[in-house]
Amino acid sequence: IGSVEDVQAMLTELGITDPLPAYEAASVTTNPIDIFRSYIAEEMHKITGVSRDIVYPALEWTQQMEKGDLIMAVPRLRIKGDPKALAADWVSKFPENQYILPPEADNQFIKFFFNPNTLARLTIPSILSKATRYGANHSGAGKKALIEFSSVNIAKPFHAGHLRSTIIGAFLSNLYEFCDWNVLKMNYLGDWGKQFGLLAVEYEESGSEEKLNEDPIQHLFELYVTANNKAKAEEEKVKAGEALEGESMNDKARAYFKKMEDGEPKALALWKRFRDLSIIKCEKVYARLNIKFDVYSGESQVSGDTMAKASQIMEDKKISENSEGAKIVDFVKHGYKKLGKAIIQKKDGTTLYLTRDIGAAMERYETYKFDTMIYVVSSQQDLHLQQLFAILKLMGQDFVSKCVHINFGLVAGMKTRSGEVVFLDSILDEVGEAMHEVMKKNEEKYKQVENPDEVADTIGKSAIMIQDMTGKRINNYPFDIKRMTSFEGDTGPYLQYAHARLCSILRKANIPMPLIHTADLTLITEPQAILLLRTLAQFPDVITNTLKTNEPTTIVNYLFKMTQILSSSYEVVKVVGSEEAVARARMALFESARTVLSNAMKLLGLTPVERM
Ligand code: ARG
Repeated sequence: IGSVEDVQAMLTELGITDPLPAYEAASVTTNPIDIFRSYIAEEMHKITGVSRDIVYPALEWTQQMEKGDLIMAVPRLRIKGDPKALAADWVSKFPENQYILPPEADNQFIKFFFNPNTLARLTIPSILSKATRYGANHSGAGKKALIEFSSVNIAKPFHAGHLRSTIIGAFLSNLYEFCDWNVLKMNYLGDWGKQFGLLAVEYEESGSEEKLNEDPIQHLFELYVTANNKAKAEEEKVKAGEALEGESMNDKARAYFKKMEDGEPKALALWKRFRDLSIIKCEKVYARLNIKFDVYSGESQVSGDTMAKASQIMEDKKISENSEGAKIVDFVKHGYKKLGKAIIQKKDGTTLYLTRDIGAAMERYETYKFDTMIYVVSSQQDLHLQQLFAILKLMGQDFVSKCVHINFGLVAGMKTRSGEVVFLDSILDEVGEAMHEVMKKNEEKYKQVENPDEVADTIGKSAIMIQDMTGKRINNYPFDIKRMTSFEGDTGPYLQYAHARLCSILRKANIPMPLIHTADLTLITEPQAILLLRTLAQFPDVITNTLKTNEPTTIVNYLFKMTQILSSSYEVVKVVGSEEAVARARMALFESARTVLSNAMKLLGLTPVERM
């Protein structure tokens, strides 16, 4: 079903010979519901005389199935008169047809229910033939999205914020790719700054070549902790009025970082080793989550020339001003009442996080000419990104209108057995082990799993990801291993179980795929089956909506609704043991459900399992 002609041919098979009205907003080849939308809009246009471009978008999707497959609020058509009376009148004028059941007037709303037979015969073949592409649209064709996410710091510990950025960023990358965007995944490493001076100074004192090669992230982290403790102890001493022996850690670190900023080869060589080794280790961990970055950029990669150029523009346009030797931006003076002040150059001439972000953004636009650039960064940095966008705007960098900050709330209580600090690797291990324990409790099933370690690891990752993506991004949530690894409730393991169960039905029924694809779909008649079908038909709309919300929960919520309907249908909609033609039709429905579930899980970054 690649072209409008294909759709028309399917309608002819259903005995519908009138050509489908063409609506620009409709995407009938990728979204079966748009076929119904086009038909209903056209009839409503004829009945009411309201123009097509007002009628079409007034047909909205519903949250609850009882409200119809589509619903129209009469006032949206902007016609004078009592909405309730208009609804009743229009409904009575709606012609008999094969697309929908007679529409229902409900107060000032009109509810439209699709004809289940038509819906089955338009939707199921579409799902089965599009397979891994069902749900996708072409909205990103010819467009480029730069998605910056994870952006870990090399000299500092990984924290929950990085985990969330990684999960949400990978999800957005998958979603945009699914809809034909050309996506560039970028990791903007925190690989520059005074903390590197601290690290280098400590490495020279207590570092180990061997440990660095073995596990750079772990070793750098140890050095980071030691150096910070020393610096803190020194500060305490100074506060207490005691004298320090020699130069303080912080002074040494500052001096070292200055050498880096001045491009001194020896200082840079050590820093570069830290960076290269860390990237190699990071790549391995990301691979566990099926993530591969296209570019490892970072704060260090922003060129001095770009920042000098930016600085010049800010000076010329009087955006920045001098303040005690440093350069600052006073946002209040420029009409940004809530953004306060920010330093963009220190007294010693060195740059800051914000300065580097300004340069980075300019270079990215120069290099990639993106249509959208998404920063997936914790809401703790809302102010930082607002300041960044405001400066770019004041500088006249028009591409700022294409920049988006996708933010998210905090995770409480994410720590591992070994302590407060978390490494992504060990979180994945720990949840995988917990998952394994949960699986062992069902001996019967556990015996049938061929590779329990691997399956536990996969489901464990699903547990973490679904817990992260269940609520709205901005909500905080507690990291709760017990809850996330449960098979009950809205969890990752529950979704995996739903997928594995569908695979098991397919195996047991053992009907060859060609026979499933040619099933007589008029045999799908049970209310539970129809409810499931209607839900599956919504998936392309859910994707369209998710592109607007950029919220993983839009998909996750849909999946929980769908899988609940699915699980309550098994009782009634039996495949094994049913008469052959019926079994084939039902299998087509369940294979469609599996396809939707699998496509959605993959978008979320999960690997659907076939047995568990
Ligand atoms: N590395 C930063 C941190 O861990 C996040 C970077 C966010 N991205 C950006 N372009 N500022 O806090």
